Amino acid sequence: MTARLNVNIDHVATVRQARRAPEPSVAAAAALCEQAGADGITVHLRADRRHIQDADVFTLRRTVTTYLNLEMSVADEMISVALEARPDAVTLVPENPNEITTEGGLDVRANSKAVRAAIDRLRECDLFASVFIDPDAEQVAAARDAGAQQVELCTALYAEATLGARGVHGEGAGRAAAELKRLHEAARLAAQSGLKVAAGHGLTYRNVGALAAAREIEEFNIGHNLIARAVLVGLDPAVREMREAIRRGRAGG
Ligand code: PXP
Repeated sequence: MTARLNVNIDHVATVRQARRAPEPSVAAAAALCEQAGADGITVHLRADRRHIQDADVFTLRRTVTTYLNLEMSVADEMISVALEARPDAVTLVPENPNEITTEGGLDVRANSKAVRAAIDRLRECDLFASVFIDPDAEQVAAARDAGAQQVELCTALYAEATLGARGVHGEGAGRAAAELKRLHEAARLAAQSGLKVAAGHGLTYRNVGALAAAREIEEFNIGHNLIARAVLVGLDPAVREMREAIRRGRAGG
């Protein structure tokens, strides 16, 4: 079984918000991704609403026919939106006011009370709760103890290392291999703890394959690299190529 691909379409909303215009439509983008074989759609509702708006979440809940994963902070205001919109999964992420994108995983150990409270609210309403964490044994244990049903492993350090890697012996390759090992170990540990395992952040057509070889990883959330390619070649081939990169990685080459 290959891992599922959820396409993060935040950047489609970013283009729309640049002009506060009606287009491009996030619902149309989601439908095109689904038609191209995406297994799900991911969107991130941020406190500053700089790309996805509350209305987008409700629209997507009506139009997405595969799987809708909603990323958000643990803030009460955000959890209330999730309870009303009822996505298929809610992924809890850290959020800092001036960040360009999510900076690393949620420190579940240090924020266990707030994370547990958010997860309790979600699960009481039968929503599936995932937490975005660094690939670290203590964070996996803290996520499980807080009641999460899934962890999404943050692949940012691995992805950064692969950007510096030139071939298998190049600069960054050693660091990429070490990060890959950390991710594989955390995935194994999470699965052994009864958690479902997802991964994402900074993944590309070139670096996703090595990670997809880890059979515990059931789902990838990929945005920037895929949408960047879609700007040039269209969403349909961009989604198909990413699915193929994941499939080939899982098959071992
Ligand atoms: N997973 C999480 C939790 C994220 O916050 C993001 C970025 O919004 C992604 C995955 C996707 O990262 P990227 O856009 O770099 O593929």
